[in-house]
Amino acid sequence: MEKLRVGIILGGMSSENEVSLNSGRNVYDNLDREMYIPVPVFMHHNGGLWVIPWQLVSQNTTVDVSDHLEKEARHIPYEQLKEEIDFAFIALHGKYGDDGCIQGLLELLGIPYTGSGILASALGMDKHIQQKILRWGGIDVPRSIVVPEYEWRNNKKALEKQIHDTFGFPLVTKPTREGSSMGVTIVRDAGALDDGINDALEWDNAVLVEEYLDGIEFSSIVIEEDGEPKALSLTEIYPQSEFYTYDDKYMPGRCRKFTPPKNIPADVVARIKEEVVRAYKVLGFRSYGRIDGFLAHDGRVLITDPNSSSGMAPSSFFFEQAAESGMLPSMIISKLIELSLTIHKEKRGPL
Ligand SMILES: Nc1ncnc2c1ncn2[C@@H]1O[C@H](COP(=O)(O)OP(=O)(O)OP(=O)(O)O)[C@@H](O)[C@H]1O
Ligand SMILES: [Mg+2]
Repeated sequence: MEKLRVGIILGGMSSENEVSLNSGRNVYDNLDREMYIPVPVFMHHNGGLWVIPWQLVSQNTTVDVSDHLEKEARHIPYEQLKEEIDFAFIALHGKYGDDGCIQGLLELLGIPYTGSGILASALGMDKHIQQKILRWGGIDVPRSIVVPEYEWRNNKKALEKQIHDTFGFPLVTKPTREGSSMGVTIVRDAGALDDGINDALEWDNAVLVEEYLDGIEFSSIVIEEDGEPKALSLTEIYPQSEFYTYDDKYMPGRCRKFTPPKNIPADVVARIKEEVVRAYKVLGFRSYGRIDGFLAHDGRVLITDPNSSSGMAPSSFFFEQAAESGMLPSMIISKLIELSLTIHKEKRGPL
């Protein structure tokens, strides 16, 4: 049987391109060579695609990779991608990578890929719209108000009053469409609100203002098994910063994480797993996803951040939870590829 050529798409156009390089490199290292041929495909920050030699996968930053492209890599016009790969393992994160854009391109080209389709990917990225859908699906989410940039510029006083009256402090401000905690602030008092909102507006043209949740943060990988989504183990998170920041997420040894959880009783873990699977289904995610949330002190399970994809670094939740279920990185990667191929075959249309 011919081996499948798996294009590992890494880099990209978002604020998370360095995180993606790390993810892609790890997928490259762990892809089962008995079954697949890895083809590293680097997405330049201008959107261009390049097939890169494996040596470039080990470069430190996407800027370093970019410096070598002209001499050592091959530029691939979009329509030629299907001559190069049979399957796309999307190791991109954030805008253009998680949000339906690359998924749309791959649908046009007829290339099967990991993760959700266009609509669900877009929903996974948009924290405002996903909350509306989750609420509609009976899932508990934090109270929130969306603040579009033009409203903040034109009606600041009225909005400030509405925010004070609705939440009190602390509260959380975040860009509606970002990842890796970019632009997230815990706003402790009224004097810090303006900075929090302006920080988030650096990343997007709308800000989500949310009630602050005090409790235990968790993350759960959901992956399909014979068409039925199932939660792997659950991870309980104890950041060292005031919340789970970029540094906590990616600096080695910085954050305490417990898989399975230490401080959440088994019956509550079971309830959380049910909720994350419900959230996955309500948003129409396919193949896999990573659903984050909080167990509040009053026992409520709130979903704060359903993601249609996951980090793929060695210590990412994806591999940590797979290990807990007895799967090596190569095993879970193969499983994800095979189930994504099946899902793609059964699809009727691109969503
Ligand atoms: N309502 C909230 N109350 C308390 N802390 C929050 C709240 N919302 C977010 N946080 C903190 O901010 C972090 C980042 O927020 P969020 O999960 O929404 O961002 P993200 O950028 O999409 O992250 P990821 O890269 O993991 O997808 C959370 O992990 C959590 O620690
Ligand atoms: Mg997220």
